[in-house]
Amino acid sequence: MNQQHPMDEPVALATTTREPTDWWRDAVIYQVYPRSFADSDGDGTGDLEGIRRRLPYLKGLGVDAVWLSPFYASPQADGGYDVADYRAVDPMYGTLLDADALITDAHALGLRIIVDLVPNHSSDQHEWFRRAVEEGPGSPLRDRYHFRPGKGVDGELPPNDWESVFGGPAWTRAADGAWFLHLFAPEQPDFNWEHPAVADEFRSILRFWLDMGVDGFRIDVAHGLVKAEGLPDLGGHDQLKLLGNDVTPFFDQDGVHEIYRTWRRILDEYDGERIFVAEAWTPTVERTANYVRPDELHQAFNFQYLSTPWDAAALRRIVDASLDAMRPVGAPATWVLSNHDVTRHATRFANPPGGTQIRTPGDRELGLRRARAATLLMLALPGSAYVYQGEELGLPDVTDLPDEARQDPSFFRAEGQDGFRDGCRVPIPWTRTGSSYGFGDGGSWLPQPDGWGELSVEAQTGVPGSTLELYRSALALRRAQPGLGAGGDPVWWDDVSEGVLAFERPGFACTVNVTGAPVRIPAPGTVLLASSPVEATDGEIELPGDTTVWWATA
Ligand code: GLC
Repeated sequence: MNQQHPMDEPVALATTTREPTDWWRDAVIYQVYPRSFADSDGDGTGDLEGIRRRLPYLKGLGVDAVWLSPFYASPQADGGYDVADYRAVDPMYGTLLDADALITDAHALGLRIIVDLVPNHSSDQHEWFRRAVEEGPGSPLRDRYHFRPGKGVDGELPPNDWESVFGGPAWTRAADGAWFLHLFAPEQPDFNWEHPAVADEFRSILRFWLDMGVDGFRIDVAHGLVKAEGLPDLGGHDQLKLLGNDVTPFFDQDGVHEIYRTWRRILDEYDGERIFVAEAWTPTVERTANYVRPDELHQAFNFQYLSTPWDAAALRRIVDASLDAMRPVGAPATWVLSNHDVTRHATRFANPPGGTQIRTPGDRELGLRRARAATLLMLALPGSAYVYQGEELGLPDVTDLPDEARQDPSFFRAEGQDGFRDGCRVPIPWTRTGSSYGFGDGGSWLPQPDGWGELSVEAQTGVPGSTLELYRSALALRRAQPGLGAGGDPVWWDDVSEGVLAFERPGFACTVNVTGAPVRIPAPGTVLLASSPVEATDGEIELPGDTTVWWATA
């Protein structure tokens, strides 16, 4: 038999009925960064109405839910992760009525909406913090944050040796001499979660958005809320890093779990299977599993997977470790390759392995080829997967933004570990031409590079082999084929060839050539989809380098 198969033409599969419950266990959740998705009013900044108008696109792409990064009232010191009012929409994004219309329309299309909750810190423009500063040292509102006297003769030294994730000390001095803690930018003071008013306020904020009809929350810095008693010095421990920390007095303290148990009880009062997903950067997947115990959160991002280089042995190790870690707590594993904080995977894989902030474009063709293969691998694994806006277009990071255009606060704080996050936040191209390639009528808050239009939705729609059509086909197959994605089932690895990952699930197989060179391997079934063109002959396949193939098996 000679099976020729174009890369993105799915073979029809019998459609099976999906369980109406536990939708989130194998959901594909699409992250929208509102500032950069679609601008309805031509001010150069995306908005809620822009998102609402593009919901049919997301439905057509085949995702189950949309997670919106923050759109709340904010001075935008950190792209909206500095919230001044948790119950208001920032005017640049619209109004609460726009949020309501977005939620209503999404539901009508069968899409769920997950909003971002930022409980570790507020904006320095939040009413509590403004008053805490204005009212001076005796203000009772100071106890809702971490105000401390400094060290040294005149209190001129910070209270401890912690550094901010964005670089520089994690403490800033108010005009009256007291210091306040901020694990991120100085405009993001950390809440004191020991204070009952803080806990009460967030329970109320949860209810506010649940009453608005949202289907869940992504919890920002979920591992940071509780600090060790007395805010002890780090001493010999690693300084603040999001990933790879050993146990520190500011991250992953056991006390956070009691907060999530309380929140879970609130969520469970509401109908419709609403969920929490934790942004918890912990040292190991085993520590991450603590956040998704049955009475806590539903999912946690798998940042260890996101940080794994394009290497067969490393990928297999992290897939096994993730599934093993989640099994005892009964939570689905999750998979993610890109988000608004890291260099897009098409650019990470275009460069030699080197962390999540890459500053060089690398070999773009190679990066895209690997990114497509990596996506098909991710979407074949059991559990829930996260897709970041624009990755379905194969967008690279924009690595050459002029410094004066940059807005990421960590770029401006020396030695911050992030710094280059603007490159993945450039507004996405919808059309081939136009002032901002269909993003809006009024330009774009970050400059879009030349050639952006060739990567647009318009340029890729209906084009065989385009990355957009690859995603559409993959998501349609995933929906139809229960062996794909469903949580709980194991992954059976086949040892086929060095550098090739091959695994089976009921009725389905996936082979990934993680090397750059073609290999001949036995064909485990009929080709369903491939990330680059393949040809299967007489029960064998020549698997090109950096390519993933999905198979239907008997
Ligand atoms: C999270 C967000 C990131 C933000 C930080 C501080 O890591 O994903 O964008 O800068 O929290 O809120």
